[in-house]
Amino acid sequence: MKPHRHISAQIWLLALACCTHILQAQDFKKQVIYQIVTDRFYDGDPSNDNPAQSAGLYDSTKTNWQAYWGGDLAGIQKKLAYIKGLGVTAIWISPTVDNENKNLASGSPIGSPYHGYDARDFMRVEEHFGDAANTWKAFDSLVAAAHQDGIKVIVDWANNHSNYKGGGEQGALYNNGVFMASDANDPNGYFHHNPDIADFNDRYQLQYYTLEGLEDLNQENATIDNYLKTAMQQFQAHGADGFRLDAIKHATWGWEYSLANIVFSNKPSFLYGEWFNNNSGDPLYHDAYKFANKSGISELDFGVNQAMRDVFAGDKNFSELDSAITTENANFVWQNDLVTFFDSHDESRFLTLNNNKNRLHEALAFLLTCRGIPVILYGDEQYLHIDTSNGNDPYDRVWMSSFDKTSAYTLIGKLAALRQSNDAIAYGSWKQRWINNDVYIYERQFYNDVVLVAINKNGSATYNISGLNTVLPAGTYTDYLGGLLNGVSLSVQSGSGGNNPAGTFTIPANSVSVWQIAGGTPGPAVGSIGPTIGQPGMSVTIAGDQFGSRPGSVAVNGAAAAIQSWSNASVTFTVPNVANGIYPVQLTAASGAKANTIQFTVLTAKLVPVTFTVNHAPSTNVGDYIFLTGNTIELGNWGTTFDSAVGPMLDPNYPDWFLNVSLPAGVTVQFKFIKIAADGSVTWENGNNHSFMVPVSGTGNVTVNWQN
Ligand code: NOJ
Ligand code: NOJ
Ligand code: CA
Repeated sequence: MKPHRHISAQIWLLALACCTHILQAQDFKKQVIYQIVTDRFYDGDPSNDNPAQSAGLYDSTKTNWQAYWGGDLAGIQKKLAYIKGLGVTAIWISPTVDNENKNLASGSPIGSPYHGYDARDFMRVEEHFGDAANTWKAFDSLVAAAHQDGIKVIVDWANNHSNYKGGGEQGALYNNGVFMASDANDPNGYFHHNPDIADFNDRYQLQYYTLEGLEDLNQENATIDNYLKTAMQQFQAHGADGFRLDAIKHATWGWEYSLANIVFSNKPSFLYGEWFNNNSGDPLYHDAYKFANKSGISELDFGVNQAMRDVFAGDKNFSELDSAITTENANFVWQNDLVTFFDSHDESRFLTLNNNKNRLHEALAFLLTCRGIPVILYGDEQYLHIDTSNGNDPYDRVWMSSFDKTSAYTLIGKLAALRQSNDAIAYGSWKQRWINNDVYIYERQFYNDVVLVAINKNGSATYNISGLNTVLPAGTYTDYLGGLLNGVSLSVQSGSGGNNPAGTFTIPANSVSVWQIAGGTPGPAVGSIGPTIGQPGMSVTIAGDQFGSRPGSVAVNGAAAAIQSWSNASVTFTVPNVANGIYPVQLTAASGAKANTIQFTVLTAKLVPVTFTVNHAPSTNVGDYIFLTGNTIELGNWGTTFDSAVGPMLDPNYPDWFLNVSLPAGVTVQFKFIKIAADGSVTWENGNNHSFMVPVSGTGNVTVNWQN
């Protein structure tokens, strides 16, 4: 008997180890992401530097910034110890799909897709990053090694376009080596063939025109739809844990909902998109947050990006950053899922803007304690910057010339560890506690987990802080950073109503103090759900604390969900068979104690894209739009507002309007078109509801006349 028990215990442990990893896959709030421009990081395999099929695109001298410089997937793998030592838990790597092979005449003398954004074959791996046969070997090897080190792999995914239509391979697209189409040879309509986007505030141009000369994929074409979704699932099968979706404002918005749905239905994942520019000053800001709130796709936080650059690199007051966060928190439902960053491969590096390491450290400390999932651009921790042409693209894509243990490296490591040990950072609320032009004191709180951060960005002035209140319990708190950024201790007296006074104290010039307590939660508490939307049958993970070690229950709108796995901090359940709608999810521990609820959207069924056209709609004035509304959650449940109805629709053929929307496969839906005027007043079309049976797979089309 004994040996048997021993073996089964081992199998149980193995199963646990394997599944714990899978379970955590959806809790991206706990991650710190390190962004790598693969070509510029480390050359781990010189044999792929100048492959035959794309010979001549490599520059061994690293002086031509538009050429490949030799970095590759094997190089990232060789530097995993360095990456792990930094404390980051995920890497975001350049698009790894096979890119165009020909020199771009515009580069001098070489123009290459070293950045990865000029795809030719989404089913294969780029030869400069992997091997000359475009196999998955190097990718698989990197993923396995990264997972071994507890590091997730996020693949940049640019499915808006293939490559330049006016140069190189002229848009040519392949399916696992088989030619599909090029700009001049596209009998099946795989591309849009429209001019370059001229008006970046025009919803139609944004989605259907050409982005900077890049051959625009027609995602409504059933072949392209299937090709892109199959390719993404192939990356998931090869272990990709998440995707950064390039240019989501330029692919078809409605279609992207079905893309997210396929990815989440296939495997646990996390998706965040580049919606440039989703800050509150943008005319399409409302579209930007509506998309993030409803699609299941989070977004890179350009609002915080701009404010951080203005405040930390520039000399703007902290009020700009404080108001950016306040505004976004009011509009984005999943604010702790926003992906925060102050540098990227598309903007000049912080130290180019302001060559001041103190300020860089302060920005890093803010980034790593701010709400949202932080991204650190490779090389920032080595203080790398090239200031040619103001350090703009391509000079921000520097060669990773050192791998030293700098102060920034240590700082990132400490704060990445805090995200693991104190849930206030990943799940907590946000509260400004004290502010002036140079000083920002803010608090994160998740039940009894509290982190209070004080930053003084002034290089010479100390400040006396009086009147600071905190929810930290009475006591003395040493600086969690141990003085690394000149931080000081804090003593707190007891007060009332979550306002415990800190008395008066002084914070030094150029300092960051981090005071924290990991007090835990009084009972089961939920901080995260992922994905945030899905149909019955989908796997969903909720994360938090004190769930207990024995399985309790999870209910979606009162309906019990099957539990796939249960641990103290993470539970995966299957969405039960409930009617479509937006519901609270209730976790109850085995003890009977109930957690806080968290929102989840139950779809009617898996999604397929359908293009709706309504001809002869009533006339509109500027700011009036036609919307679609109907009888399921995917159609807004007969909502009649900008946020609840589906749209705005697009009117390149005014007064005919169209829109691509993702709808429940195989379901017969009822719908109508409405006009929502600029002032919010609603005009319904007359007559009976239209009805349409959504295809079970592929794509759909429906065209009707506006009923007068
Ligand atoms: C945004 C990417 O971040 C940028 O680097 C790229 O060139 C464009 N999208 C086009 O893919
Ligand atoms: C686009 C405008 O922005 C919208 O408000 C208007 O209804 C239509 N064009 C028709 O003029
Ligand atoms: Ca190489």
